[in-house]
Amino acid sequence: MDPQTLPSMFDDVERVLVSEQEIHDRIVALAEEMNAIYSDEDLPILVCILKGAFMFLADLTRHLQFRHEVDFMEISSYGAGTTSSGVVRILLDLASSVDGRHVVIVEDIVDTGHTLDYILRNFAARNPASVRVATLLNKPSRREIEVPVDFVGFEIPNAFVMGYGLDYAEQYRNVPYIGVLKPEVYQEGTED
Ligand code: IMP
Repeated sequence: MDPQTLPSMFDDVERVLVSEQEIHDRIVALAEEMNAIYSDEDLPILVCILKGAFMFLADLTRHLQFRHEVDFMEISSYGAGTTSSGVVRILLDLASSVDGRHVVIVEDIVDTGHTLDYILRNFAARNPASVRVATLLNKPSRREIEVPVDFVGFEIPNAFVMGYGLDYAEQYRNVPYIGVLKPEVYQEGTED
């Protein structure tokens, strides 16, 4: 669809941080890294952390050459605003058991690290054979708790970003690139 047909939504974007082409090229490279590590026999489960990682998972999985399964987990750590509520909750749990399985957590962004830390501790209790983490975006300057990340798409500066699955107040997930909204858009929204 021509973005010009949705002028109001795209008018809210101040700047593009990572373009569609850059996202595509980096995901192909990340998939190559993963193709070098996993084989069909490993049969890993890619766990997509909803909602933000749905687009990343969908594109990543198409470039993987080993057999794998996908599963979904919905985690809530943010409300309507741009600052973490500090409370992490599981809204939807996995459909499958990961006991004895190789797991790849697929995240949209690691910011303070609290969400991923919670997820990793939760998975450790499920007795997986291994756990690795793939995140499209990483904001290392914001880290409050150390978390291991194995595959990183892009390290980005300390700015609240949206698009390519990431939301602001549940909107803008369909924007095909990673962008920063104009300050007035955040000011109009409700902080939690
Ligand atoms: P953390 O617990 O602070 O690391 O935050 C992780 C979660 O917060 C991510 O999975 C996102 O859902 C959300 N988040 C963090 N930073 C951003 C951002 O810049 N834009 C949109 N969502 C974000």
